[in-house]
Amino acid sequence: MERTFCMIKPEGVQRGLIGEILARIERRGYRIVALKMLRLTPELAARHYAEHEGKPFYQDLIEHITSGPVVAMVLEGPGVIAALRQMMGKTNPLEAAPGTIRGDYAIDLGHNIIHGSDSPASAAREIDLFFTAVELEG
Ligand code: RTP
Ligand code: MG
Repeated sequence: MERTFCMIKPEGVQRGLIGEILARIERRGYRIVALKMLRLTPELAARHYAEHEGKPFYQDLIEHITSGPVVAMVLEGPGVIAALRQMMGKTNPLEAAPGTIRGDYAIDLGHNIIHGSDSPASAAREIDLFFTAVELEG
């Protein structure tokens, strides 16, 4: 069964959107396999966003993602990697369709509320980064 990694970013937590986002995921029919709130260390943030190292927005990205608690989770179900990306909407919220999470709750690229793995390889890498085998037994 396919799995993906999803994270409600600090602004999503601060704005009280945890329940709303979890409700959308559950209503769609996907299973929450594991779930936790944590604050990313600079080290974990750097590993998570390693693909963006050296880009102009990298420093802001790391500072922002470590600025407060996030909610990290693993979701499971058919086609969940692509389906979550679809439910999130485009990276720039101004281009995200209404009805998507970013399209409904965000207007700023750097504060786009939610992260979802962009491929099977990213999903496997990110799940391993945030969760232990025991935590994934649920
Ligand atoms: P994410 O990794 O956060 O789920 O978002 P994504 O796949 O849709 O977008 P990605 O290209 O991986 O970019 C990661 C995050 O970096 C910020 N960003 N800023 N200023 C810029 O040009 C720029 N580009 C990306 C966004 O917050 C994006 O979610
Ligand atoms: Mg990405």
